[in-house]
Amino acid sequence: MFPFCSCWRARLLLLLLAVVRESWQAEEKTCDLVGEKGRESERELALLKRMTPLFNKSFESTVGQGPEMYMYIFRVCREAGNSSGAGLVQINKSNGKETVVGRINETHIFNGSNWIMLIYKGGDEYDNHCDKEQRRAVVMISCNRHTLADNFNPVSEERGKVHDCFYLFEMDSSLACSPEVSHLSVGSVLLITSASLVAVYIIGGFLYQRLVVGAKGMEQFPHLAFWQDVGNLIADGCDFVCRSKPRNVPATYRGVGDDQLGEDSEERDDHLLPM
Ligand SMILES: *[C@@H]1O[C@H](CO)[C@@H](O)[C@H](O)[C@H]1NC(C)=O
Ligand SMILES: *[C@@H]1O[C@H](CO)[C@@H](O)[C@H](O)[C@H]1NC(C)=O
Repeated sequence: MFPFCSCWRARLLLLLLAVVRESWQAEEKTCDLVGEKGRESERELALLKRMTPLFNKSFESTVGQGPEMYMYIFRVCREAGNSSGAGLVQINKSNGKETVVGRINETHIFNGSNWIMLIYKGGDEYDNHCDKEQRRAVVMISCNRHTLADNFNPVSEERGKVHDCFYLFEMDSSLACSPEVSHLSVGSVLLITSASLVAVYIIGGFLYQRLVVGAKGMEQFPHLAFWQDVGNLIADGCDFVCRSKPRNVPATYRGVGDDQLGEDSEERDDHLLPM
């Protein structure tokens, strides 16, 4: 009884493992970089990780007309079209023939400050161009902060070379942008902060004066007396610094009638007239 039981358990375990492995492999069909697992380029892996928001998207673009009309389907690290392992396929609209331009199991990726280059190699072989090599898709992804991914378009097909031919595509994505740096300098941050503080002070003080103290009119302005003093001090300062001629107005002039004052000011303004 015991051997049968253990054998049966072992079989079940094996079956289970096979199922798990199968589903794991099916799910894990994604971009494969050069090198075994653990020996891949750290930089490429980091960049692929950055691209994950695009994995569930599919991009299409149709070019040409009549019998020369082609549709291209592109996916990032996921299978496009009906061909196994394809990352970018070309479909001839007149006969429905699907050609694999690049496969996700031969992915290369690198970036600059505002672009990412994604290359799928291992596509279907050329019939008679380019030394009958495998096709290759080159996708240039440019920084565009307004879209996660858009404007996928074929640019050109280079097949006039003896070898190393390629299909070139372009696309816009915010993922290609370098992390946004703050455009505010220290000075403007300080300015904005102090302006906000002043606003809070005035509004808060106003509300306090009005609701708690019950002030009306100008009295609602917080610390009115203090700010009036400050204003007067500044005015005095300006007066002292800027006035060219000392203002030696005798005290007796204060509170006298307008007629006398007018006469006097005319006299004093004489020197302002051109001679
Ligand atoms: C990629 O997949 C294709 C077909 O699925 C296969 O023929 C090719 O050898 C694979 N390439 C690599 C580098 O594993
Ligand atoms: C490429 O992207 C990485 C982040 O994934 C970034 O640190 C690096 O600066 C980028 N390369 C260039 C040339 O900007």
